[in-house]
Amino acid sequence: VLSPAPIPVMRPTAPAFHAVAPYLEAVHASGRYSNLGPQETHLRDRFARLLGVDADQVVTVASATLGLAGAIAVSPASRWSVPSFTFTATPAAVEIAGRKGRFVDVGADWWMDTSGPDDPGTGLIPVAPFGSPFDLRSWRTSSEIVIDAAASLGSQPVLTGLPPTWAVVFSLHATKVLGAGEGGIVVFGDPGRADACRNWSNFGFAGTRESIRLGANAKMSEIHAAYGHAALDGWATERAEWADARRLTAGLQRELEQDLAVSHPGLDGVSPYWVVRFRDAATAAVVESTLNEHGVETRRWWSGGCHRMPAYRHWDHGALPETEAAAAVSLGLPMFRGLSVQDVGTIGGALDAARRALTND
Ligand SMILES: Cc1ncc(COP(=O)(O)O)c(C=O)c1O
Repeated sequence: VLSPAPIPVMRPTAPAFHAVAPYLEAVHASGRYSNLGPQETHLRDRFARLLGVDADQVVTVASATLGLAGAIAVSPASRWSVPSFTFTATPAAVEIAGRKGRFVDVGADWWMDTSGPDDPGTGLIPVAPFGSPFDLRSWRTSSEIVIDAAASLGSQPVLTGLPPTWAVVFSLHATKVLGAGEGGIVVFGDPGRADACRNWSNFGFAGTRESIRLGANAKMSEIHAAYGHAALDGWATERAEWADARRLTAGLQRELEQDLAVSHPGLDGVSPYWVVRFRDAATAAVVESTLNEHGVETRRWWSGGCHRMPAYRHWDHGALPETEAAAAVSLGLPMFRGLSVQDVGTIGGALDAARRALTND
């Protein structure tokens, strides 16, 4: 008997060639392939409309990692507090920007605590867990804040009224919503900082070939902007496909919350992740191994927390009990556009096998 093809934990998607082709033709006709050309400028307008801000607040970048680095680089804060429960890109961005970072714990909701005393020398990088929605009113407004909302474009954030010392960063990586292969969008409260970030992304140039500030090459090319346009053209369809996949898995999620898992607000919207918060570490481990044996791929998206990674050994941190707990009890299950009823049946069968394994223990 042939076993069915394994079900991947994600399936990266970018717009089909026929949807991108007219934009690529326009790129070729313009003779501009990068350096903030017409495709990039128009894409900035379209994202500004989507997010409820002005186009001069928006910066396009080659990746969210570089967008985070640019937002940090144009802030006056020299030290940055970063939750350890995040993807390695968040602390990497602090290093790329040449600033000092320290890891802080998350709360039970997996968001970092931002309620400490305000210190303009210390910036904060709250990370929206796994594409969660967020409310700008959740944090105090005087601080330097860069919100890592890499996977949260699908929760349709409205950034109108973003305070001047804040920035929000989204990813357009192929595994995210509105994927364009690679790319990122940064929205600043202050158009002056957006301008500085645009200069940073272009070698620190500001109209001449003098680097007036430290910079990088972090620009979004016209070719990636073409993919960005095609992704936005297909947004209504894409959004419905993500919602379908979520609807298909919702029954299994509800069943899990009756025995093996606990509910976690924010993880049930349009996002490229299905992350389950299990009742304890042992349950998560048994589900992980049983699903894998049944051809259902799972992923510890943020491994054991960034503080355990050799690259960040030099970062300070205190005790991180909620980070350790979050890493131990959370597990990513398959979530992608086109997830089928049959796939969900296979996942459900594998979860039942995990239940049997747990009761036999
Ligand atoms: C929380 C978080 N931040 C940043 C990134 C980096 O995004 P990019 O791949 O666009 O650099 C990711 C990507 O997975 C992420 O999950």
